[in-house]
Amino acid sequence: MSAVRVPVAVGEGTYDVVVGTDLLEDLTAHVPPPAGAAAALLVTQQPLIDTGVAPRVQAALRAAGLAVHQVVIEDGEAAKRAEVLAGLWQAAASVPLSRGDLVVAVGGGVVGDLAGFAAATYNRGMAVLQVPTTLLAQVDAAIGGKTGINLTQGKNLVGAFHQPIGVLCDVGTLATLPPRIRTEGLAEVVKYGLIHDPELLDLLEELPEKTAPDADLLQELVRRSAAAKARFVAADTREAGIRAHLNLGHTYGHAVETLAGYGRVLHGEAVAIGTVVALHLGHRLGTTPMEVVQRGEALLARLGLPTRAPALDRDRVWEVMARDKKAAAGAVRFVVLDALASPRVLTPSRADVDAVLDGLAAGQ
Ligand SMILES: NC(=O)c1ccc[n+]([C@@H]2O[C@H](COP(=O)([O-])OP(=O)(O)OC[C@H]3O[C@@H](n4cnc5c(N)ncnc54)[C@H](O)[C@@H]3O)[C@@H](O)[C@H]2O)c1
Repeated sequence: MSAVRVPVAVGEGTYDVVVGTDLLEDLTAHVPPPAGAAAALLVTQQPLIDTGVAPRVQAALRAAGLAVHQVVIEDGEAAKRAEVLAGLWQAAASVPLSRGDLVVAVGGGVVGDLAGFAAATYNRGMAVLQVPTTLLAQVDAAIGGKTGINLTQGKNLVGAFHQPIGVLCDVGTLATLPPRIRTEGLAEVVKYGLIHDPELLDLLEELPEKTAPDADLLQELVRRSAAAKARFVAADTREAGIRAHLNLGHTYGHAVETLAGYGRVLHGEAVAIGTVVALHLGHRLGTTPMEVVQRGEALLARLGLPTRAPALDRDRVWEVMARDKKAAAGAVRFVVLDALASPRVLTPSRADVDAVLDGLAAGQ
């Protein structure tokens, strides 16, 4: 299949998410660097060097006449901290990068968030090209301009909105992902299917059980997911309104991620669990039809994603959900579905949430 482009219209202009295979060699044709750029700071992690992805990006940038300086940051969520960010600023200063140059993020959401935040802040803001290499980053993290780092008090507490000049999703790069990491990305694809594009559910349901999607299907899943995200981002660039619908599954999912310990339950796995909770909660509150609940839950299970949370302290769960920076004062906001592709935000009582969790723990 040839490459497809999904435009993302934001206040400052429009950029494209380019989706296809074998895109890296022609990277600068797909997303031209800023006119006059002379240098690029390529930020990546070791697995992307081992798999040859970062070297291919580097060669393409050099072929376009850019001087490339590569920084390899440590792997894992722990890299999203101030010291690592400061290391990127130092690297940018020693190149030195000027405002017309380019930052290139090659990796998963961790690299994208960090390099994106470095680009948002160095020189008071410079161009960043996102080259996401996990399914989660291709369908979600690299699109929409949210960048940032974690504090010990919580995830993504410091950051900035900074849109990239383009997002290059080469689905061929996903072939080397460990199976668990590839599978977790599918939870976000199911989310887009539920909140916006039910065709995504059909495509995933047609996939033989526990089979990895091939390159053609991946391209279609990434294209449709990117289009869904682009729609919400364009309607609400700074997350003041309907962009919140992208948080289906994230309210309870965030609590699972926080309380189970980062890394034990992956982000996408936590979102799968949180989606099941949100579906059942919507049903309990009289909005979500049971067939939608059953369809979503069955699909997540079929894809090999978890649908039940580990045992967690209910007081702490509520505390984490209420503390979330997206929560309105005191209230816990859940995205629920009135129907497929019809999400809305509700603030349920703790009694209703507990009743749903009790039901799920009892195997309903
Ligand atoms: N900015 C946003 O809007 C947004 C949205 C969702 C998530 N996020 C952030 O994204 C992060 C999670 O991203 P992630 O799930 O991509 O995790 P990740 O970036 O940690 O990548 C997962 C692992 O896969 C490796 N990897 C990446 N590409 C690979 C490849 N092609 N082959 C082999 N290994 C590869 C990485 O080195 C890492 O070990 C979190 O920090 C989360 O907060 C941001």
